[in-house]
Amino acid sequence: MSGLVVALDVRTADEAEALVDELYELDITYKIGLEALHGYGERILAYCEARDVRCCIDAKLHDIPRTAGAAARALVSPPVRMLTVHALGGVAMMQATVEATRERSRELEMGAPLVFAVTILTSLAPGDVAQLGLTGSPVENALRLGSLAREAGCAGVVCSPDETREMKNAFGGDLLTLVPGIRPQGTAPGDQRRAATPAQAVIAGADFLVVGRPIVQAANRRAAAAAILESMALPER
Ligand code: C5P
Repeated sequence: MSGLVVALDVRTADEAEALVDELYELDITYKIGLEALHGYGERILAYCEARDVRCCIDAKLHDIPRTAGAAARALVSPPVRMLTVHALGGVAMMQATVEATRERSRELEMGAPLVFAVTILTSLAPGDVAQLGLTGSPVENALRLGSLAREAGCAGVVCSPDETREMKNAFGGDLLTLVPGIRPQGTAPGDQRRAATPAQAVIAGADFLVVGRPIVQAANRRAAAAAILESMALPER
């Protein structure tokens, strides 16, 4: 599976389909986040299936275990290779998500999507984390949530570039890292607070990079995506 996950963060299905077409045949997984999922989820999933491209559903599930599991079950379909859940929903909820995902995949005779647990959102600065009543730094919180994600059977975690190295040191091959907050040199941070360049994230040990605006809002989106793919393959990684 490709290490580059591009967020289809656009307003309409037409725009999302145009973006898939523009990046076609680059080695990319397409992320269907909340905007796409709630706006035109079924249509973009059908499009990805028809074009035979891989999807990550960034559903960020966070509810009681039964509801999260039922939602995960409904989200499994052939193009889906990854699914996200909030680690802050607790071990039982993550477990229910993982189990429902596996069960539905068996029924559909497809490989089970990898479930990734979101640790601490990359938009939160240390002060925001403290304001939530979580004691310790973002790294400490992310590691604690990572250990719960592993206990629940998740394939990996979503964490910021700042926590990636510690996450890999702590959990090694037990947890894959899906890393947003990626900003190539010279691109605007927007609302991301804990960000790094693609090469920095790869060197820190990121398994998958999530990139939205630096590609979606680029003048030449295909060139922007190709440049990121190239920087991810740098020999010094
Ligand atoms: O535009 P940008 O590159 O900041 O997009 C990042 C994408 O990754 C968005 O779709 C956002 O929802 C998602 N994401 C994130 N932080 C997380 C989990 C997902 O930014 N912790």
